[in-house]
Formats: sequence, C-alpha cells, structure tokens
Amino acid sequence: MKQNILVIGQGGREHAIAWKVSKSPKVQKVFVCPGNAGTALENNIENIYIDISDTNSLIEFVQKNNIVLTIVGPEGPLVEGIVNKFSEYGLKVFGPTKEYALLEGSKVFSKEFMENYGIPTSKYKRFSNKDKAKSYISSKKHPIVIKADGLAAGKGVVVSSSLEESNDAIDKLLNADHSDFIVVEEFLSGQELSAIYVCNFKGCTYEIGLPWTKDYKSRDEYNAGPNTGGMGAVSHPLCYEHKNEIYKLYLDIEKIMVKTINGINEYNKKSNTQYLGFLYIGLMIDSANKIKVLEYNCRMGDPETQNLMLTLENKGLDFLDMILNEPVINIQDLNIQDFDQDKKGYCCTIVLASKGYPESYKKGFYLDTEDIIQTQNIKIFHAGTILDDNKICTTGGRILTINVYAKDKEQAIDIAYANIKKIKIFEDKDMTIENNSLVFFREDIGS
Ligand code: AMP
Ligand code: GLY
Repeated sequence: MKQNILVIGQGGREHAIAWKVSKSPKVQKVFVCPGNAGTALENNIENIYIDISDTNSLIEFVQKNNIVLTIVGPEGPLVEGIVNKFSEYGLKVFGPTKEYALLEGSKVFSKEFMENYGIPTSKYKRFSNKDKAKSYISSKKHPIVIKADGLAAGKGVVVSSSLEESNDAIDKLLNADHSDFIVVEEFLSGQELSAIYVCNFKGCTYEIGLPWTKDYKSRDEYNAGPNTGGMGAVSHPLCYEHKNEIYKLYLDIEKIMVKTINGINEYNKKSNTQYLGFLYIGLMIDSANKIKVLEYNCRMGDPETQNLMLTLENKGLDFLDMILNEPVINIQDLNIQDFDQDKKGYCCTIVLASKGYPESYKKGFYLDTEDIIQTQNIKIFHAGTILDDNKICTTGGRILTINVYAKDKEQAIDIAYANIKKIKIFEDKDMTIENNSLVFFREDIGS
C-alpha cells in the first residue's frame, strides 16, 4: 500500500528531501510543514501550516492523515525533543531524540564527547567568563576559532584572525542572549568534507554512507567574508582520487563514525535505544590526509542535501529505502561502491542569496525562474521563498539553489552558472521593476 510521509522544515534541504522521497514508488503523498514556494509547486507534495514548535498539533495531523513516517529536517526541533514526543505516541519519526541530538546542540558536549571517546578533533578550552576567555586568547596565535555553545543557525562560529576580532567575538557570543559558554579552539587548515550517514531503522550496523560533499561556508569567494549556513556544495574532489587513497580515507572516516555511534549509544545506554537519524560529520583533512572532526550535526546539511538528492536521483537510488531499509538494501557506503562500479558523476549546487546575507537583507521581492528548463539533471530547490498569488516571493537570506548533475565536473559547473544567471529579480509583484542587485551568489563554487 502506498504511504503518506511528512517532512518538517522549510529550507532547501527539506524541499530536496520531500522531492526525492515523493519519487519513491512506495509514496502516495508528501506533506511538508511549512515548506516553501518550491514544495508548493511540486506535483505530489502539499504544504501544511502548523507552527513546528506546536508538537501536539503536528501529532494530531500525523494521526489524522495516515502518515507512516515523519522526517525531521532542521536541528531546532530535534534538540527540543520532537522525536521524544512523537515516540511517546508510537509514531514513526526519523531523527535522534534530544539526548542524542546533544552532539549538535552543545559544542561543549560534543568536544568533551570527542575527547572521552578518542575521536580526533582540534584542541580546545571552554569558558563561561569573558575576562578569562580574553586573557587566554591574548597569548594565542591567530587565527583562532570561537564557538557559542548552543544552536545559532550558522552564526555561532567566528574564525578570527586578530586579537581585536576575537575580543569582539567573545563579547558577542558569550552573553545572556546568546550562550552561557563558549569554546575556543585551535584553527585547522586543510580541505573540508561533509560525511553524512543514514543511521536507519535497521539499527547500528546498517548505516549508509552518502557520497562525500564539499560545502562552501564563507559568504565570499576564496573563503573570505563571514561564515554562512553554506553558499554552495559539490561532489567532493577527493571522491576522484586514486582508489587506494579513497579507501584509506573511507576507513578513517568510517572509524570516526563507528566510534561516534558507539560512544553516543553508550552515553545513552540507560534508555536502551540507539542513534537513529542522519549523522553529519564535518571534517577537516590536512595536506597529509589526516582528518579531524570540526562538528557533528544530527541532521542533513544544507545545501549538501540538495546536492545529494539530485545525485541519488541520477544514480537511480531510492532515498526512502535507505531510511526504512525495507527490504534491507545492499549499500554500505556510496563512496566505495561508486569507485568499484565506476559510476561517477559530478553534482554542483549554487546558492542564490539576498544581498546582505548572512547579516541584514531585504525580503519580499520577486523571482522569475521560468527561463530555467528543469530536467532529470537540472533542478531548482527553493529555500527562503513563498508563493504569493502564484509568484515566487522571497522570505529568507538563502533564496534557492540551482543544482546540476553531469558526467564531468566542468560541465556541471558551467551549466549551473549558465542557469543561475537566467533568474530575473523584480522589486514588485507585477514584475516590472527588474533589479538583479538584490541578490548574489559565489562565483567560485567547484574551485
Ligand atoms: P562548525 O559549526 O563547528 O562546523 O563551524 C562552522 C564552520 O567554521 C566550519 O565548517 C569551518 O568552516 C569553520 N571552522 C569551525 N571550526 C574550525 C576550526 N577548528 N578550524 C578551522 N575552521 C573551523
Ligand atoms: N552546510 C552546513 C550545514 O548544514 O551545517
């Protein structure tokens, strides 16, 4: 029998998950709460409007609409305990409970966790007192990294290159409005890699490693400007290295994943549960190919998910099967599997953002994307948009992504840039005042 699914969230990640899941032959309909203009425009996807912090109303909706599985997109509800609440009602929900989501919800917890379980990460110190933090930093070599303890939607991390900047960051992040603790850590250089695992309903030994991706975190070209949620993503360049090197990297990353899952399961052993949901391990790889963990997320990445969903679609893989593992699917890690089967393709994701993001920016202007012909390998995933009388209106800093899958890298990047340039931006709903200066995108995605 075909099934209804609910996806919680409104970003590009949730558009991509809902779109991919809606293509599964098992699925009747996907509801997204609250979704965006992109999900509103899809065929068998429907947006619903319930405040996502109102868990009781969400549960009532799930019960009334024959929903067999809820997938939680963003970290906020996970850290708040949405999975704990759904599980009390016997509802099937994909995501970790709040006790497991601490891996993302607290930087202090995650650093102590890595220390306790022998997981490689940068050296750090935690502080709750500004003066002590400033005095510690005054003798440290820069750059240095300062992180707020709790969730901060990508705004809680400052990579500081001077003492002055560090002192400002301490004042900004360590205060009653933001966070009671900060972590000050050693700066790591190298190449970042996002390794995302689907820790599915079959339990601990059936995690599926999704293709590695590279996220572009800073706002401007060549790592300049402030950190953002992510300005683009590509299939990771290391996926194209020699087989032996890939295999070694795969083993190193796998070791970290296993230690993490075993560690967090042990931490929660009284609950008699296991980690369930997506596990995102953000890694830094140095020039000698040594890896360290930068961060954990207990959800998929944004915009990595957009890149991954188009990749899975082009590889003919059913994402819902990976989550449910029914019947057990025979994939352990797509990075290794792909190498053996020589099925490589390349996916390029570019974010279109409102000028001013990640600080203040304008909302409420309009987009015309009609000149982009979407195909099996060219796809728009919306983020900060709503439909206003069938016109696409912006509501957020990251507006949408253009995603292109192609046989080779240059082709994917060229097609993605050619398409993002086709988008027309208007100040008014009648779409008469064109003003492309309201938006921007990074010009170096893929480099
Ligand atoms: P986090 O939320 O901890 O991943 O930090 C966000 C981003 O800040 C990372 O993806 C990196 O780009 C950067 N970052 C975080 N920690 C470090 C570090 N120790 N060294 C260098 N860059 C870092
Ligand atoms: N793109 C990074 C993240 O989702 O945390």
